[in-house]
Amino acid sequence: MGKNTTTSSSSASPAGGSGGALFKTKAGVIAATLGSAVGLGSIWRFPAEAQANGGGAFLLLYLACVLVLGIPVMLAETSLGRAGRADAVGSYMKLAPGKHWWIAGALGVLASYLIISFYMVVAGWTLQYLWDSISGALYDGAVSESALALESTFHHRMERYIGSDMAPLISTFVMIALNAGVLMMGVQKGIERASNIMMPLLFVLLLIFSIYALTLPGAGEGLEFFFRPDFSKITWSVAANALGQTFFSLSLGIGILITYASYYPSSTNLVSTSVTVSVLTTFVAVMMGVIIFPTVFSFNLDLSQLRGTTLVFVTLPEVFSQMPGGRWWSVLFFLLLLVAALTSTISLSEVSILFVQKRFRRSRVAATLIMMCPLFLFSALCSLSFGSLADLKLFGLTIFNFLDTFTTNWLLPVCAFCTVIFMGWFAPRGTLRDQVTDRGTVATRLYPAICFIVRWVAPVLILVILITSI
Ligand code: TRP
Repeated sequence: MGKNTTTSSSSASPAGGSGGALFKTKAGVIAATLGSAVGLGSIWRFPAEAQANGGGAFLLLYLACVLVLGIPVMLAETSLGRAGRADAVGSYMKLAPGKHWWIAGALGVLASYLIISFYMVVAGWTLQYLWDSISGALYDGAVSESALALESTFHHRMERYIGSDMAPLISTFVMIALNAGVLMMGVQKGIERASNIMMPLLFVLLLIFSIYALTLPGAGEGLEFFFRPDFSKITWSVAANALGQTFFSLSLGIGILITYASYYPSSTNLVSTSVTVSVLTTFVAVMMGVIIFPTVFSFNLDLSQLRGTTLVFVTLPEVFSQMPGGRWWSVLFFLLLLVAALTSTISLSEVSILFVQKRFRRSRVAATLIMMCPLFLFSALCSLSFGSLADLKLFGLTIFNFLDTFTTNWLLPVCAFCTVIFMGWFAPRGTLRDQVTDRGTVATRLYPAICFIVRWVAPVLILVILITSI
């Protein structure tokens, strides 16, 4: 084990391009990992899931899943990445030479690549909505209408925009280019620096919104909905949703954490990093609940509208149009969403970029171009599947929905299952222990519990997710 840690820094740099290939500071490690985790998953999907699954009951289940499953699985993944000091495929190869475990890593690379193909499209929408909030186009003529008229105006706007071909395509392409720009600059100068700037911004925006939401008249009712658990709402499928949300929001199961942990300095304490990232991600998700529910209650909007794309692209613009200074709130909100999406797409893209860089010995810039260029095509197909290609169906789903379903319901649990089984049972003896207990007596005391979860609890729970999605 020790040998992995010592070879790390030297083996990490050859194809590293500019900026070195380890994160430079502790804050950078946290900011980058947190940036990956906090994305559309916590900001947007979480409140919608909470609404659909009984508010407070879902929140409690989610907290339990993060604690019992999220943190240990995160530790398994980061241990694998830091011990392997390579991309998702290479890390398995290094720890299990001559075995077929690398296939699990390859599935992770595939999953992350397919996920960015559709995630970029949604990120593109947020960019467009930000732009339209700044220019005012989003709210043109929508200020003095009745509630019903407002809703249909924004619905219509969203459908017209998403369903058109050119406009969403352009914003998707801009997002891909933005990602490529950051990623080309390398680990420290690109990913770490971007995260160090964007994450504090995200927290400031979040704080501003929560203060505003909490001071709205009627906020208490919304808070009560969000925090009061109704245990009768808890069913197997609600529990499975909470598990799925945990994987989604903590960026587990698709090679992201293997990749990022390969950039963690050997001085990084994996336990405190995983706990900090999980706690902060959960904090962001909870704050989003604290922002969204009081707002929706205060403006007397229909809770059922919180589902899917409607929440962000219809309900919230409706709220902003009624608020004093709403247009500027709208700018801040879409900026928040864009920042969250950008740091997540960066991490999703990095999985395949490091893969190409290491496996095919390419420079950072070449690897970025090799992986990001085809993305223009894949994302375009996803984007057009709301427009001209809406009738093109795979297994009865549009391209976008097919990729979304296939990756989150199938590929992700399969990859996560392989990771915990590998780290629990097949990695060289002591790999998990050495990485986890590296420094700190607390970690040493917690190790037996972590090991038990990685070996037994996590695989069983992941199988439950898989089975429920069938
Ligand atoms: N964690 C990020 C988010 O919540 C990105 C992400 C990680 C993701 N894993 C995912 C997105 C799986 C979709 C599916 O947005």
